Amino acid sequence: MSAHTHIPVLLQETIEALAVQPGGRYIDCTLGGGGHAAAILDRSSPGGQLLGIDADPEAIRAARARLEAYSSSILLVNENFVDLEAICIKYDFLPVHGILFDLGLSSLQLNNQGRGFSFQHDAPLDMRLSSSQEVTATDIINTSSETELAHLIKTYGEEGSSYKIAHRVVQERPITTTLQLVRMIEQAVGRRRGRLHPATKTFQALRIAVNHELDHLETALKQAINLLGCEGRLVVISYHSLEDRIVKQLMQQESRDCICPPGVPTCVCGHKASLRLINKKVITPSPTEVQLNPRSRSAKLRAAESLITQDEYYRTAEEHRFLAQLNAEGWRRPALLKKLRVAFSMF
Ligand SMILES: C[S@@+](CC[C@H](N)C(=O)[O-])C[C@H]1O[C@@H](n2cnc3c(N)ncnc32)[C@H](O)[C@@H]1O
Repeated sequence: MSAHTHIPVLLQETIEALAVQPGGRYIDCTLGGGGHAAAILDRSSPGGQLLGIDADPEAIRAARARLEAYSSSILLVNENFVDLEAICIKYDFLPVHGILFDLGLSSLQLNNQGRGFSFQHDAPLDMRLSSSQEVTATDIINTSSETELAHLIKTYGEEGSSYKIAHRVVQERPITTTLQLVRMIEQAVGRRRGRLHPATKTFQALRIAVNHELDHLETALKQAINLLGCEGRLVVISYHSLEDRIVKQLMQQESRDCICPPGVPTCVCGHKASLRLINKKVITPSPTEVQLNPRSRSAKLRAAESLITQDEYYRTAEEHRFLAQLNAEGWRRPALLKKLRVAFSMF
């Protein structure tokens, strides 16, 4: 296996949590090197279908090569999962039996010396998942005020020395490469603290900011819940506490019938649970997996099942199908408008 191969994390646990069945339709929102996707396709054969999404065009290329043997069962799209619902409507990929998010970066991206994700290689400070995004890490580092930078490093990196780092960076800018930034961080906080490299948290913060990772995750998870069919499964693997908090809070909230604040005598929110938690305790890799693949060490898997009923599901699917038709055919078709009128009078 080459250093550039991405080893899928918690593979067996993911397939079990997704309850992959022959003939099912699955979405891998973070296709990466296609490792999880290949296992889903194996297990869903015969008849399974997979929609693979990745914001990084290089990931799509790598996954397409890896998944060549399944070409008649896959649809791979170079899009951002923040548009998950629109993507499903556009490609008419409904109903969905399982949706996977394996967050973060793949080894392909971390080992690619030109992308600026790793503090171990010298490269332009870029960190964009796709070159179609406008703002790079260099832009953020060189145009933010000292306070903004410190706030960003603290919030997205949970870095205790964010003010010291921001102060040093602002004094020394412009900063345009990864190793220049690493040097500034080391000058601000010293060379090594415990097991973590001193640049780890600042690099994480910049990557989150450049790619709007937390906002996009929350938006996409809410869409994913609404796209699941009856007993459809949502599985999320996260790699740091900021991601995991979003997943945990959303799954917990969506698995409760009432989300009124504590102390409210009778429910006023009217919230209805839309999910059932599959694993109450988070699933983490075994010591053997961590030994074989050290990048798995911080992984946390959470899974939930949709509580939508068949009837409710058909209604939502019908709405989605109308939207897909509208997308494809436009509003001006009288026959379609007539169909819509009939449909909405039914609902
Ligand atoms: C950890 S890797 C996935 C690895 C994959 N499960 C495998 O087995 O090879 C995460 C992937 O998600 C992609 N990604 C991260 N954020 C994304 C987003 N908002 N939209 C689409 N893809 C995203 C990254 O480009 C990366 O390729």
